[in-house]
Amino acid sequence: MLPSLFLATTAATLASAHTVITYPGWRGNNLHTNEAWPYGMQWQYPCGGINLTTNRTYWPTTGGALAFQPGWFQGHQTAFLYVNIGVGTEGPDGGPINMSNPMVAPFQLLGPSNGPFPGTVCLPQVPLPTNWTMNPGDNATLQIVEIAMHGAALFSCVDITFAAPGDPRIPEVNETNCYNSSDLGFASIYTITTTPIGASADMNVPGSGASLLRFAPWMGYVPVLLGAAWLLM
Ligand SMILES: *[C@@H]1O[C@H](CO)[C@@H](O)[C@H](O)[C@H]1NC(C)=O
Ligand SMILES: *[C@@H]1O[C@H](CO)[C@@H](O)[C@H](O)[C@H]1NC(C)=O
Ligand SMILES: *[C@@H]1O[C@H](CO)[C@@H](O)[C@H](O)[C@H]1NC(C)=O
Ligand SMILES: *[C@@H]1O[C@H](CO)[C@@H](O)[C@H](O)[C@H]1NC(C)=O
Ligand SMILES: *[C@@H]1O[C@H](CO)[C@@H](O)[C@H](O)[C@H]1NC(C)=O
Ligand SMILES: *[C@@H]1O[C@H](CO)[C@@H](O)[C@H](O)[C@H]1NC(C)=O
Ligand SMILES: *[C@@H]1O[C@H](CO)[C@@H](O)[C@H](O)[C@H]1NC(C)=O
Repeated sequence: MLPSLFLATTAATLASAHTVITYPGWRGNNLHTNEAWPYGMQWQYPCGGINLTTNRTYWPTTGGALAFQPGWFQGHQTAFLYVNIGVGTEGPDGGPINMSNPMVAPFQLLGPSNGPFPGTVCLPQVPLPTNWTMNPGDNATLQIVEIAMHGAALFSCVDITFAAPGDPRIPEVNETNCYNSSDLGFASIYTITTTPIGASADMNVPGSGASLLRFAPWMGYVPVLLGAAWLLM
């Protein structure tokens, strides 16, 4: 009785939270559900409800480490993870206007349970997007997106200033601040094309009775649903 009560309270307290960035830094604690954020702050694009910050962390121009704790809420027995970068100052908060630049291929997280779980993920060398060059002193924002099992996305960011590799202002990466917990697993995400573009599925419907036409729109959804179910396997 007591342990489950405790768990329920913990879950309620953390009800808006999924991702905490532990390296190289974090825009700030956005693990809040309140009147201003009745659904929880972290669901808000692009950075979980926290505007651009000015206390930036230094990060190498060649790309670098990123560590985070993905399990601060229920519903993450599995999750999809994305890491993106945004640059520029055209956003309403003076930061990037978008985060549409992926840095790593999306991957799946395998959690130990569907409840909140501890554990940390370390990506030791997140590269810049292909053909990107950043110079020391340039600013950018790194974004982690975590897609829950139900398809909604959580956002968390860190604002960085680029520095030359080896610059002493870049916080040290080591086995205490960047490691993969042994109770977390990973899986590759891939898709299988079932209907190539142009291979329309409704060309060969036999007959043309009214009852068939009535069912046609509904039948059109079947491959889409199957495709989604396949992805979630
Ligand atoms: C910046 O300051 C905020 C507010 O004090 C803090 O929550 C956040 O962790 C800081 N970020 C970095 C990268 O130091
Ligand atoms: C980067 O951000 C810092 C802090 O917000 C700001 O002082 C600096 O002028 C910015 N640098 C560039 C090149 O925009
Ligand atoms: C994202 O923002 C940049 C400016 O920082 C702009 O050049 C680019 O077109 C935008 N991309 C999308 C997909 O909106
Ligand atoms: C973030 O910035 C926008 C645009 O300036 C502003 O409307 C909003 O109130 C700010 N949000 C917070 C949480 O400070
Ligand atoms: C943690 O796991 C991810 C996914 O398999 C991998 O890319 C990364 O290199 C691992 N981190 C460490 C420190 O081994
Ligand atoms: C990167 O640059 C090379 C050389 O200009 C070009 O051929 C290639 O298409 C670019 N790749 C991407 C992903 O933009
Ligand atoms: C790991 O690096 C952090 C700074 O990022 C430092 O505070 C900590 O002492 C280092 N730990 C070890 C064991 O060197």
